[in-house]
Amino acid sequence: MGVRRVLLGSEPLWSLDDYVATGGGRALSMVGRLGASGVLDEVDISGLRGRGGAGFPVGVKWRSIAEGGAAAGERFVVANGAEGEPGTFKDRFLIRRNPYQLVEGVLIAATVVGARRVFIALKRSFSIEAERVTRAVQEIEAAGWAPEIGIELVRGPDEYLFGEEKALLEVIEGEDPLPRMFPPYIYGLFTNNPQMGWSAGQTRNRGGGAASNPTLVNNVETLSAIPTIVREGGERYRALGTVESPGTIVCTVSGDTRRHGVEEFELGTPVAEIIDTIGGGIADGRTLKYVLSGVANAVLRADDLDVPASYEGLAALGSGLGTGGFMVFDDRTDPVELAAAVSRFLSVESCGQCPACKLGCEHVTSLLEARTGVALDLGVLSGRLGAVTDAARCYLPTQEQRVIESLIPEMRASRAQAERRDLLITKIVDLVGDRFSLDDKQRLKQPDWTFSTAAS
Ligand SMILES: Cc1cc2nc3c(=O)[nH]c(=O)nc-3n(C[C@H](O)[C@H](O)[C@H](O)COP(=O)(O)O)c2cc1C
Ligand code: SF4
Repeated sequence: MGVRRVLLGSEPLWSLDDYVATGGGRALSMVGRLGASGVLDEVDISGLRGRGGAGFPVGVKWRSIAEGGAAAGERFVVANGAEGEPGTFKDRFLIRRNPYQLVEGVLIAATVVGARRVFIALKRSFSIEAERVTRAVQEIEAAGWAPEIGIELVRGPDEYLFGEEKALLEVIEGEDPLPRMFPPYIYGLFTNNPQMGWSAGQTRNRGGGAASNPTLVNNVETLSAIPTIVREGGERYRALGTVESPGTIVCTVSGDTRRHGVEEFELGTPVAEIIDTIGGGIADGRTLKYVLSGVANAVLRADDLDVPASYEGLAALGSGLGTGGFMVFDDRTDPVELAAAVSRFLSVESCGQCPACKLGCEHVTSLLEARTGVALDLGVLSGRLGAVTDAARCYLPTQEQRVIESLIPEMRASRAQAERRDLLITKIVDLVGDRFSLDDKQRLKQPDWTFSTAAS
């Protein structure tokens, strides 16, 4: 357990030659010999689970896209590099260190599921990552690695929902990031299957036919792990980590620690060790009070942190591993203020296609924000939270429920309101030295995704 650099490597790689010198390209060249089923077997054996938050088994997802024959339509692959989860910077960090393994992973995935067009999706604001990926794609194309597969870079908006896979496909088709109804393996890219989706009819950029065009969406870290797994074998990868969470995970630590940063750990390493290794402890005179792993899982308290960072370890605590992005809050943190900050982020980012989500999350935010001078009725709060997921198209309101409900016992236990900290829950903008800068504009973002000129 502990630090284990399988994907991050010892140094950033600056050219395809550097990558090839470390074994890069060998996995792709093995695909012809292994065949799609041989690669799928290695991915299954590795036990790799998606690193975009849900931990879904990668082999199962790939098989579901590959199945169905020609009748299911064209296949596509999308690398999700939208990275908008608060407290997470690992995909961008990985791309900055080694974009080549991502591109090789995408090409292997495309070969296995039978895709001829693949997309690497990044936010428009991720300019360093876009440059790195563009260069890597150019070098790999010039080297003729997979001439039959076209790789397109898609630059999307800053909205949190851009990273949600059903919204991501909308953006690739030239639409706004509003989640469509059905998942990508059922309703893929450029299909005109009767729908489904925000647009009432056929949308501008859908040129396809009536097949469902199953589309594989995987997170950047997930796809970056593929070349190593194919090259070295699934067994070798599975030897790392735990039985249910094999391999390594690239973790981010931010918040009230001395340092911020990103590092790769063997799965099963205690969360406390991850926070200490990256964060170097809490400032003098302060103690750790809460940890949030993104904004999709129940809060962790100081005495929970011996828990292994694994899917099963955190699930056993009623929480979740998410993207391995740990936001640390010290003893000054008031649970109501923390809940309000999370709820504000989610309610603003909710797109409003499902009224129970938008209106419910907004109401929860206003109850939490208004508690100064007004007793917060936790029964009302709980009742309101219970309904936010009604008829939801995506997981965002479930995230609201999971985080805010987990803070209710903390609110009940904390009698006096702590000093307000002006907490901001939002995406990371960049790593500057050993501190992350946060997207301060989020404070001005309104529920209709416009920005006010003064803090609301
Ligand atoms: C509101 C919301 C935002 C999301 N944002 C991201 C994101 O920025 N990056 C990402 O990889 N997955 C994100 N996801 C998860 C994706 O929908 C999808 O599950 C993931 O890309 C699948 O890849 P994986 O199987 O490799 O984990 C988000 C999900 C939700 C509900
Ligand atoms: S559940 Fe919320 S965020 Fe998701 S599509 Fe519906 S309104 Fe939008």
